[in-house]
Amino acid sequence: MTNHPIEQSPVFRTVERLIQGVQTSDGAGVRLTRVLTQSLQRRLDPFLMLDAFRNENPEDYIGGFPDHPHRGFETVTYMIAGRMRHHDSAGNQGLLGPGGVQWMTTGSGLIHSELPEQADGLMEGFQLWLNLPGRNKMIKPSYRDIPTTAIPEFLSPEGIRVRVIAGTSHDVTGAVQRPDTEPLYLDVHLPAASHFEQPIPAGHNAFIYTYRGTVAVDGVAVPDRNMAILTNNGAQGVRIEASTEARVLIIAGKPLGEPIAQHGPFVMNTTEEIQQTMRDYRDGMFEAAVVQSL
Ligand code: CO
Repeated sequence: MTNHPIEQSPVFRTVERLIQGVQTSDGAGVRLTRVLTQSLQRRLDPFLMLDAFRNENPEDYIGGFPDHPHRGFETVTYMIAGRMRHHDSAGNQGLLGPGGVQWMTTGSGLIHSELPEQADGLMEGFQLWLNLPGRNKMIKPSYRDIPTTAIPEFLSPEGIRVRVIAGTSHDVTGAVQRPDTEPLYLDVHLPAASHFEQPIPAGHNAFIYTYRGTVAVDGVAVPDRNMAILTNNGAQGVRIEASTEARVLIIAGKPLGEPIAQHGPFVMNTTEEIQQTMRDYRDGMFEAAVVQSL
């Protein structure tokens, strides 16, 4: 007879890997850091991309993102500083200001632009791409502009400010819920000498991104402008410690486990679907898209 030790799951997730991302430019010369690159899409399923931009020099952002198409996923733009105006192929437009979120379901396809509405000062924010399950990739496109005042938030007794963009944190329900991928998207502002614990289901993929100061997860420092992929070690959550003031995004979701076929701004399940998408785009189907503003 052999004695099998009882495996006990750790209480908190650890850091599997730190990622600094790749400096690149997109749109009409917007300088940004691609933190979640294509090579991490499997590991961080259902998330496809995370771009971080923080530019003081207008030359690095003024060109914005002129007309371009999307199909098959959702884009979540979160502004920290600056203003961005968006237009789409259906004639909708909106202005995204500091602290606000644009949650866009690109679905079957649309053409849109995202252009800075300022000629000086800091432009800072993030764009996250969240995949759609295959059966929803061709749904009608829609978007929601969520002004900063409409993002639920709470203050812990320690003075930690938590903005709940998606999912739920400590009984506060976020602005957006998605049953297929159950995304959690938090912006957590920690004062010096504080710590924050967030439950995350064990089967979900999760990462954090520090954008002010330095935090620590299980004793591993996650400095400014670093992403930490959190280990899927069976733990039920993450504990983040800040010795000095810090800000961090916590992002997690339930993996779809479907094949991912990406060609630039199109993300489908198969190469055939990508080829069909490119034919549809050439045929002008995206220009004729009806886009709902929710
Ligand atoms: Co876009």
